[in-house]
Amino acid sequence: MKKRVVLIMGLAIVAVSFQCNALTNRGSQDVKAGTTTEYPEAVKKVIDSKCLGCHSPEGRSDKAKEALNWTTLMGLEKSSQVSKLDKVIEVLDKGDMPPKKMIEMHPEAKISEADSKILKDWAVATSDVLMK
Ligand code: HEC
Repeated sequence: MKKRVVLIMGLAIVAVSFQCNALTNRGSQDVKAGTTTEYPEAVKKVIDSKCLGCHSPEGRSDKAKEALNWTTLMGLEKSSQVSKLDKVIEVLDKGDMPPKKMIEMHPEAKISEADSKILKDWAVATSDVLMK
């Protein structure tokens, strides 16, 4: 009888610690995925769905990370922010991002006209404020 109680308590402890583990793991994933919280909601949505996969520390391409990292952009010096934002405006105007190769393989990666406008208008406005 006693043995059984110990066994049940043991199992309960294992179950609880397993759950805690699952919770902390999920927590750290949220941190990784949610580091663009400083952007307005509508802008963040576009960045997260269309750009962040490559332009964040988790991105697979070093070139993309070097060119632009959304998670640190707003912490850069003003002049660097402005020059990055200008590049963002430029690639959106030309339709250069996400890269054509990516869209050939994954057509759903393409940015819609509406989303492109949301991101571009925000970049123009933010850049204007920074240059004042
Ligand atoms: C599939 C990966 C991928 C996605 C998605 C992606 N990019 Fe890029 N991006 C790159 C790579 C790789 C480079 C660097 C190489 C190059 O210039 O082509 C780059 C470069 C850039 C540059 C720098 C261009 C320059 O002339 O210095 C900007 C700005 C940019 N991306 C903006 C964006 C925006 C905005 C989005 C979302 C709408 C986006 N990217 C989505 C891969 C990506």
